[in-house]
Amino acid sequence: MAAQINPSILSADFARLAEEAKAVEGADWLHVDVMDNHFVPNLTLGVPVVESLARATDTPLDCHLMIEDADRWASQYVEAGAGSVTFHVEAAAAPVRLAREIRAKGARASMALRPATPIEPYEDLLPELDMLLIMTVEPGFGGQAFLDIMLPKIRRTRELINKHGLELWLQVDGGVSASTIERCAEAGADVFVAGSAVYGAADPAQAVRALRTQAEG
Ligand code: DX5
Ligand code: ZN
Repeated sequence: MAAQINPSILSADFARLAEEAKAVEGADWLHVDVMDNHFVPNLTLGVPVVESLARATDTPLDCHLMIEDADRWASQYVEAGAGSVTFHVEAAAAPVRLAREIRAKGARASMALRPATPIEPYEDLLPELDMLLIMTVEPGFGGQAFLDIMLPKIRRTRELINKHGLELWLQVDGGVSASTIERCAEAGADVFVAGSAVYGAADPAQAVRALRTQAEG
């Protein structure tokens, strides 16, 4: 699969979200970080903002839920217009039921792992998912340094995906930039979230194209 670049609007200007979404048209997905100040120590946006964003851009929305009680909320983000919904396995009481619910509502179902959460206990769940997100920073904030120690987990996850012959996408999020994206791609990631590396650039759309070229090596 060709590399996909998903700019994270966490690094955008929240007072100009529609324009900031348009500034990265040509990106594969727009990554929307939902934080509740409980699962992570930061607070961002919720269902009404996702609804408005879905109307403001043709780029599909990749909603990353960093919230407690994901079982209760995830389907509301599908109804709000998300094309992909990622819940954290640490915040889901019933991940299989939740993934099935997201798919049944018509979105891609994705599960995220914090840096300290191993992939191995979840091997049997992989067929229930359309994407797996390996966090390469502790979730909560943009602009943090990439955790190199996550590269072996990315590699092991790619091996599991291949072993089972799955179509599952493998996403990385946190500290992805021109200086780290090649390592992620080499380890087996194929969907790359980039916040500060895109919105911190003078030309965000050009930054997306440059990252994609780098990831495709
Ligand atoms: C962090 C968020 C990320 C964040 C990444 O918890 O999940 O999506 O926006 O930002 P950068 O690319 O700056 O590390
Ligand atoms: Zn994210």
